[in-house]
Amino acid sequence: TPIAILISGRGSNMRALIEACERPDYPARIALVLSNRPDAAGLEIARAAGLQTIAIDHKLFGKDREAHEHKVDAAIRASGAKIVCLAGYMRVLTPFLVNMWEGRMLNIHPSLLPAFPGLHTHEAAIAAGVKEHGCTVHLVTPGVDEGPILGRAKITVQSDDTPDRLASRVLEQEHRLYPAVLANFINAQ
Ligand code: GRF
Repeated sequence: TPIAILISGRGSNMRALIEACERPDYPARIALVLSNRPDAAGLEIARAAGLQTIAIDHKLFGKDREAHEHKVDAAIRASGAKIVCLAGYMRVLTPFLVNMWEGRMLNIHPSLLPAFPGLHTHEAAIAAGVKEHGCTVHLVTPGVDEGPILGRAKITVQSDDTPDRLASRVLEQEHRLYPAVLANFINAQ
């Protein structure tokens, strides 16, 4: 199944998906890596892996989020992708793109949803004093970080944890969870 991966930055989750897609038995292949930031480090990783990449700079569209998304949608369609994986794509989507890919767009979020939607999840987890933290892959719906949950991975919070330490342990789990959940999702179609 051809997929598009949308990124904005570092692209470590994208890299995990690239590595999974290199396995012969994995059910997805990457048709496109798209970034809204032309300088995203992840674009270099994707190019080095020989993948088709495109940057569609949201800043060129001013306040017109939908105009940007129309270009994004057109690029995804042109690639032949049937599923979209958001991987650190730091744009809140309008109903246009969400509805266009309803049921076929996944996101990874660095908390155990429904706890701690939005940004700064590791700080929030420490401030709340939770004992368990982790990450979630979910389907994208109009509400931010609200769609049906497809899978979660947990870590235990230690008493001396910092946001950075939590972030790095959660990120390890993200890199395992996203490829596993995507494969299950495709195989269940
Ligand atoms: C990850 O923590 C992801 O869960 C969140 O943004 C971060 C992206 O990291 N949505 P990377 O670009 O995949 O390295």
